[in-house]
Amino acid sequence: GREWTEVGSLTKGLEGRTVLVRGRAQTVRAVSKKMAFLIVREKGFTVQCVLSVSPDLVSLGMVKFATGLNRESYVDVEGTVSVPNSPIKGASQQVEIQVRKVYCISKAVPTLPINIEDAARSELEIDKALQAGEQLVRVNQDTRLNFRVLDLRTPSNQGIFRVQCQVENIFRQFLLSEGFVGIHTPKLIAGSSEGGSAVFRLDYKGQPACLAQSPQLHKQMAICGDFGRVFEVGPVFRAEDSFTHRHLCEFTGLDVEMEIKEHYSEVMDIVDRLFVALFDSLNERCQKELEAIGKQYPFEPLKEAGIEIDPLGDLNTESERKLGQLVLEKYGTEFYILHRYPLAVRPFYTLPCSDDPTYSNSFDVFIRGEEIISGAQRVHLPDFLATRAEACGIDVKTISTYVDSFRYGAPPHGGFGVGLERVVMLFCALNNIRKTSLFPRDPLRIAP
Ligand code: 4AD
Repeated sequence: GREWTEVGSLTKGLEGRTVLVRGRAQTVRAVSKKMAFLIVREKGFTVQCVLSVSPDLVSLGMVKFATGLNRESYVDVEGTVSVPNSPIKGASQQVEIQVRKVYCISKAVPTLPINIEDAARSELEIDKALQAGEQLVRVNQDTRLNFRVLDLRTPSNQGIFRVQCQVENIFRQFLLSEGFVGIHTPKLIAGSSEGGSAVFRLDYKGQPACLAQSPQLHKQMAICGDFGRVFEVGPVFRAEDSFTHRHLCEFTGLDVEMEIKEHYSEVMDIVDRLFVALFDSLNERCQKELEAIGKQYPFEPLKEAGIEIDPLGDLNTESERKLGQLVLEKYGTEFYILHRYPLAVRPFYTLPCSDDPTYSNSFDVFIRGEEIISGAQRVHLPDFLATRAEACGIDVKTISTYVDSFRYGAPPHGGFGVGLERVVMLFCALNNIRKTSLFPRDPLRIAP
């Protein structure tokens, strides 16, 4: 009998077996009228399929048909697994398929806007190939994003989004094991949740409304609703005009909120254990994916940047990186927490320090010198919360139901928010957040 087999699981152990694979015709190379090589790709893995004319394999017509296939067409191939004498270049699997039948399931247009093999090469490989006089096109970011369904087919992209899925999965598993409850807060809300003007406004049946800049207010209200410890995985909308390598207008927030018994270090302790679990599990579960990503995007150490830090100001990108470099040199880690930020640079709901209210019970977490998490203990006294909101220029009327939630008794609490795309970007040492968003939204892009 014949068996459906994934290209990625074609190994030498299957030698002699008849298999059926479905994938894309990545390239077809005719050696003669009687022989051709077809590279079939499925989920980033590739296998060389040999079409060789003989009475029990394929006909001349079949070879002609196969060599006429447009690249990226969807094909079914039936044949026998064989092990060649020498290593196979240009395919990930180290076995071949001796083809008996090829069917075309869906034809791709003859001219593609992106050549997948070119799109899958590292910068270094491209430089070398160009120097060697090879004809190839460097695929730029905009072209990749404009034709994202093609770009997503590269092995590195197949890896990136599988890693992303695992980050979400491990986040959920860890928090469930720590007694947190998964919740979903509304994304259509009456007022801005983080303060500031970076919010998408909309008309909610005649009432002014906006897209949630974070689940902040409602996750705190879930604490007022006695869930004790909650988390959420959901979309976050930011209208900021940030044209940087790490800002999107829509990203996926991994949010946590919890009661605090004695000190906000209880929240940082969860962060610490969550991220150790996350990195350990990713390294264990995603070896193949990390290898594929590293092949196209090898890790390059951060560049130095010598910039002074303002003691009452926030850190900018350069100073964050510089600090990352210092921490790495001094403590040998690329993951660290900074806490006790000046109150003035934190959102209105942040609790000031009891010993010095110019500072706050807040923290940020960094990987390789860039912020991935922001967290804090919150103000749980309603009148003080209203005062703080006003002081930060927020119209308290728009958040009155939130402020009032604390009038019926509320425990001390705190939490944090993580940007999923940023974690994946930094964990995989990628240079742009658009690489870790399936269909990124930035100030200039709302399609595809
Ligand atoms: O620092 P932010 O704005 O903090 C909050 O939203 C708070 N409510 C969190 C809390 O519980 N105190 O966002 C949290 C994280 C950032 O550390 C960053 O990883 C990510 O979200 N993030 C962005 N990711 C992509 N594009 C943007 N424009 C982002 N803004 C923040």
